[in-house]
Amino acid sequence: MGRPIGMLPAHALTLAACLVAVHEPTLPRTGSIARVAAIPPPAASAAGELTLGGDMPVHRLGFGAMRITGQGIWGEPEDRDGAIALLRRLVDLEVNFIDTADSYGPAVSEELIAEALHPYPPDLVIATKGGLTRPGPGSWQPDCRPERLKRCCDESLLRLKLDAIPLYQLHTVDAKVPLEESVGALAELRDEGKVRHVGLSNAGVEHLRRAQEIVPIASVQNRYSVTARDSEDVLNACQEQGLAFIPWFPLDAGRIGADVLAEIASAHGATPAQVALGWLLRHSDVALPIPGTSSIEHLEENVAAAGVRLTDDDLERLDGLATN
Ligand SMILES: NC(=O)c1ccc[n+]([C@@H]2O[C@H](COP(=O)([O-])OP(=O)(O)OC[C@H]3O[C@@H](n4cnc5c(N)ncnc54)[C@H](OP(=O)(O)O)[C@@H]3O)[C@@H](O)[C@H]2O)c1
Repeated sequence: MGRPIGMLPAHALTLAACLVAVHEPTLPRTGSIARVAAIPPPAASAAGELTLGGDMPVHRLGFGAMRITGQGIWGEPEDRDGAIALLRRLVDLEVNFIDTADSYGPAVSEELIAEALHPYPPDLVIATKGGLTRPGPGSWQPDCRPERLKRCCDESLLRLKLDAIPLYQLHTVDAKVPLEESVGALAELRDEGKVRHVGLSNAGVEHLRRAQEIVPIASVQNRYSVTARDSEDVLNACQEQGLAFIPWFPLDAGRIGADVLAEIASAHGATPAQVALGWLLRHSDVALPIPGTSSIEHLEENVAAAGVRLTDDDLERLDGLATN
């Protein structure tokens, strides 16, 4: 049985007093005993807010829930309890935008989100996607036929225990299915109330224009980071129209690293990953990064990027990192 707190031995109290004293100088004194409170790192709200679809405000630093599954984004994670704990930590860190997909696992990511967080905090926005099938680990195949998208949406609703999916994204453009047919299915799901807003993923500017002729589009999710900028034209289109742009691989899938990033990070007492995320937040105010991780430590580090304040000189140097 654990010892009640009031019965801590004297040496433990002395040690505790020494530990807290390290943080004390920044806090006001009230009487002879220092008031002690750890200064929390910045939470996701420090990244500012973005309103998705005109009515869903979210903090501008979200979470990508692809990495909480097994290897190859396949099956159950090795540490299931750890994945649940990580998802619950999001709430403490004020992360209120989670990106997932039916194909992550498949099904596993959505199931874990529901298990960890349902009933959901009222401000939590879950974005999921349909349109990719999974023949096996690491393998992805498009299937954006309307009837399949509708079935996938129904299954996501059940797994996520939702009446309506806040943001339902077409995961890809399927070369075998006219975009108008795939987006048409999402428009019908929206009319039926199963989907609140529709988003696109892996789409170009012309896809966006064609989709917008069928249904209002709230967001586009494409690969984009400080070093991978193929989608700059899509980001610009989102910026002009006030749509959210959700960069996937914001950390280049964990490979982010360049001398400039490390130098700027060290000047700010930050990490290269935090600088890469801080750049995205400053580069565009419609950017909603969704760094993915299976580690609570990395999650905390990534969310604390909301507090990194890059200078104009930093931005100029980072702008020069573009490889495309
Ligand atoms: N729409 C699409 O087609 C599409 C495609 C890919 C991804 N996505 C979405 O985008 C999200 C983000 O992409 P992603 O997760 O693939 O890539 P990412 O965010 O660029 O990087 C994630 C990788 O970086 C590592 N990492 C995370 N934080 C780190 C840190 N602070 N320091 C060092 N390493 C760190 C992670 O490993 P640890 O687990 O060890 O932290 C993981 O391997 C996904 O979760 C998913 O929701 C969408």
